[in-house]
Amino acid sequence: MNLARLQETFIDLFGETPRFFRAPGRINLIGEHTDYNDGFVLPAAIDKQTVVAACPRNDRKVIVHSLNFDQTVEFDLSEAPGKRKKASNPSWQGYVEGTARVLEAEGFKLSGANMLVLSDITLGAGLSSSAALELAIGFALTQISGHSIDKLKLAQIGQRAEHEYAGTRCGIMDQYVSAFGKADHALLLDCRSMTSKSVPIDATASSIVVCESKVGHELAVSEYNKRRAECERAVQILHKFDPDFTSLRDVPVEMFDKLAPHLPEAIRRRVKHVVTENERTREAALALKKGDITKVGELMYSSHKSLKDDYAVSCRELDLLVDIARSIDGTFGARMTGGGFGGCTVNIIEKDLVEYFKQTLGRRYREETGIIPSLHVVNASGGVSEIKDLTERKKTFSLGMRQKRTTLPDGRYLLYYSFDSEKEKGGSSETSHV
Ligand code: GLA
Repeated sequence: MNLARLQETFIDLFGETPRFFRAPGRINLIGEHTDYNDGFVLPAAIDKQTVVAACPRNDRKVIVHSLNFDQTVEFDLSEAPGKRKKASNPSWQGYVEGTARVLEAEGFKLSGANMLVLSDITLGAGLSSSAALELAIGFALTQISGHSIDKLKLAQIGQRAEHEYAGTRCGIMDQYVSAFGKADHALLLDCRSMTSKSVPIDATASSIVVCESKVGHELAVSEYNKRRAECERAVQILHKFDPDFTSLRDVPVEMFDKLAPHLPEAIRRRVKHVVTENERTREAALALKKGDITKVGELMYSSHKSLKDDYAVSCRELDLLVDIARSIDGTFGARMTGGGFGGCTVNIIEKDLVEYFKQTLGRRYREETGIIPSLHVVNASGGVSEIKDLTERKKTFSLGMRQKRTTLPDGRYLLYYSFDSEKEKGGSSETSHV
């Protein structure tokens, strides 16, 4: 579907001409599970995005239709939010309603709105589809209500919505990079000061390839919150040895080595990951700046190993994708990206060998697991914005994507997709299978 079609669909549904807003998904080159420890991350916004077409209403109702799910969410801002999540609510309602409610709680009085959402970020694949939805909805709602909003504030509101309405105690990385992303750059974000430096990504010799494993795990949210609690527990213990330790960011590697015996085994491994990952992230940003992709790649492999062995957030499929990628000629580095327990890997590949990489990794992963992965090259892109340019509106930008999932007895789930644009072109839809 292109933006002109999205506009026609909006007019059919709501009878008015909308404004358009967009917010991107992200990959994270390195710096995983460090954001909620006040540490460093090196993500980039990508050219996969969520677009919201929106018009204000005269009342305070918010009506949002998702073309991805073919579902509609409706709530009234003049009524208090329901205390309990209703089982009948669509899974994405929390992100949308949460963002609107938190905006109001933060003093942005909103008008009602009619909205239509379309995204080409695979949902639940570790590419921050939820942050993109929060940012695009939040930006659309403030703009059509006549408010200006600081991008950091918008990112923090998205994060708060995720904590309070979706139940994940996430850090700020995803919302921050969806707000501040810059074309052809990664951001070295200091999650304590909430400031970032942009680091150019030289795309002349290498490409970033995302590989979606097509698996996830029902436990991802509870395990995520558990890791965060373990880090908080570690800070309580370490604080007794040095009152300056207020987060794991404050613990240098040498100090960790000295204090490690005082930590319980599981917590010690979590801390080891966080303190070493912070070092790796700063090193990787320097290497990226110098164009030393070989070094960036080595640090990515070490990051994956640490996430697998010490932070324990990887899974068989992600490990397999990294191992296979590493054995293919032209791979500089590979690692899981995002919260873990499924989702995707990010790979840096010699530009001329990208097609070879995609075919080889796709075939070998399928042989080992029976699952067809999704592989795509991504480019670093800009953060949240209004789409004003009519020519951009006409451009085909997005796949209308429908997603289903099947839960397996062990709690893992498999993602199935079908792409409207393929159907439009007469092509076949894509599915994963075991
Ligand atoms: C998810 C969270 C982020 C971050 C990553 C792990 O994407 O939303 O805040 O913690 O996991 O690095």
